Amino acid sequence: MCGIFAYVGPQDAIKIAIEGLKKLEYRGYDSSGIAGIHEGDIGLCKSVGKIIEMEKEVQKSDLKLDTAITHTRWATHGAPTTINAHPHYDATKSLAVVHNGIVENHETLRQMLKDAGITFVSETDTEVIPQLIAHHYKGNILNAVHETVALLQGSFAIAVVHKDHPEQIIAAAKESPLAIGIGNDEAFIASDTQAFLVHTKDVVFLTNGEVAIVKADGIKVFDATAEEIIKKSEQLAYQAEEISKGHFEHFMLKEIFEQPQIIRNALHDRYIGEYGTAHLDRINFEYNELLNIKRILILACGTSWHAGLIASYMLESKARIPVQVEISSEFRYKNPIVEDDTLAIAISQSGETADTMAAVRELKAKGAKVIGICNVHGSALAREAHGCLFLKAGTEIGVASTKAFISQLVVISLFTLMMARMRHMSKAEGQGFLEALSILPEQVQRVLDKEELIESIAKKYAQYDNFFYLGRHYMYPTCLEGALKLKEISYVNANGYPAGEMKHGPIALIDENCPTVAFCSNKLTYNKLLSNLMEVKARNGKIIAIAEEGSEGLSGIADDIIWVPSTLDELTSIPASVAGQLFAYYVAKERNTEIDQPRNLAKSVTVE
Ligand code: AGP
Repeated sequence: MCGIFAYVGPQDAIKIAIEGLKKLEYRGYDSSGIAGIHEGDIGLCKSVGKIIEMEKEVQKSDLKLDTAITHTRWATHGAPTTINAHPHYDATKSLAVVHNGIVENHETLRQMLKDAGITFVSETDTEVIPQLIAHHYKGNILNAVHETVALLQGSFAIAVVHKDHPEQIIAAAKESPLAIGIGNDEAFIASDTQAFLVHTKDVVFLTNGEVAIVKADGIKVFDATAEEIIKKSEQLAYQAEEISKGHFEHFMLKEIFEQPQIIRNALHDRYIGEYGTAHLDRINFEYNELLNIKRILILACGTSWHAGLIASYMLESKARIPVQVEISSEFRYKNPIVEDDTLAIAISQSGETADTMAAVRELKAKGAKVIGICNVHGSALAREAHGCLFLKAGTEIGVASTKAFISQLVVISLFTLMMARMRHMSKAEGQGFLEALSILPEQVQRVLDKEELIESIAKKYAQYDNFFYLGRHYMYPTCLEGALKLKEISYVNANGYPAGEMKHGPIALIDENCPTVAFCSNKLTYNKLLSNLMEVKARNGKIIAIAEEGSEGLSGIADDIIWVPSTLDELTSIPASVAGQLFAYYVAKERNTEIDQPRNLAKSVTVE
């Protein structure tokens, strides 16, 4: 949430900074701004809307900057207005600050500063930061930043420019991501290394309230007590990715169509057919440690939580290990019981979700071993978990997760296979499981080939404002994910529900104006689900079924059917979800919504 990019060096600071910021637009896109220093003067330009709007304002202005800090905002405190957009000045306009995170004690700090006669202009929590820095400034900007961050409660990543110190940017971070890229006589600061990867792979990550002086010719890092520390830079092993929509109208559609290849990537080099098992590098666990695991705790949010629910069904049934799945934002305030033989798995596409990272840190503090399932190299989860299974899905730009979810399911399937083969699963069953996994790319392609049919069904239902999404067993979390997709991008109310629970209350909502998307692929519960759908039909509810080829008994019940290839119950969430993604996409398209950057959302949720 919110992206920061800053530049100090000999190149055109405005151009480099805005280009870098655009790579962070997935983090928030309601307003943006730039500030910096030129010939001893401080300058600033901000605008509501996407970064392109701010860029136009900059072009219209005579802004010149030698050192630049930029920000793209996802509003928390204060509406998305130009005044509330970052950077924020102090009252004397001597310094400017960009901030990602939340200052939880901003009310107290604001009052203290107001009592000292300082006037505020915005409604943001952030504005206390420049005002506090100015309040503490006695000629030494580093000391003033140290004194300020010591007062901040909550999470922050900040970059600060001051007109008396034109050749440097001060950066600081606690619980919000901030990376410094060290170039050849230039330096970059960003919320995500991808933003400066085309310039340098030499990186220092700031954490734990560390503060850095960033200059073109080098950086100095200080810990939260203001002691200088030696932080060696890391060489990033991954490449900058080419980001383009290709011939697709939206990134989301492109990412949906990439999924056969994404499944191949996730499987590549990760299984041994001869032994019917998986081989997962970077897991960093000894065979004995994995064998001794008696309980698994899964933490995640949103779509990743849905993947975690599917993992719980699979791991319990195949590896016979009890699994508890928790929404990170709820879990972090529990006092978890962590036993020696508990393994924690954190699932996060971004590897940055604040709630998931807080839960991971709490578990590590209690001595738990953590495996991350993550898409982003260099993310907090990838760095802090004991082992990390990468999704290999490539950058996911669409705010609504599609290919990362499918890849999560593939990685979870491989992990389950490995754990199951160490325990009760026979080689023959393992080989059968692998065979089913290996044909998934073709099966998903067959779902994609039904694009036109799914589009026509979506058009038929696009004007309804309320949907039920039903499923049982593996199809229950799958229907939660399908409903989330529809809500996120089309702004339609979609209620994901376990089909067997309908009769305990929600069925009261069913009528001819509330269609049901029924995920029918699960063989174990198929007949039970048919009975639940009969109950819907008896109340005039329309039914769109996503069902496995060869399933019988649906034609008299469903109004429309999307047939998907048949696979094992453990894997059937994959083809079924792809059909659900296309349905949501085409409903949203028909409703003319902002599909890649839906209102109110951001790709990485780095605030609590
Ligand atoms: C997915 O479509 C969502 N935009 C969202 O629910 C997301 O899955 C959630 O915020 C978790 O993100 P993470 O996987 O990066 O931790």
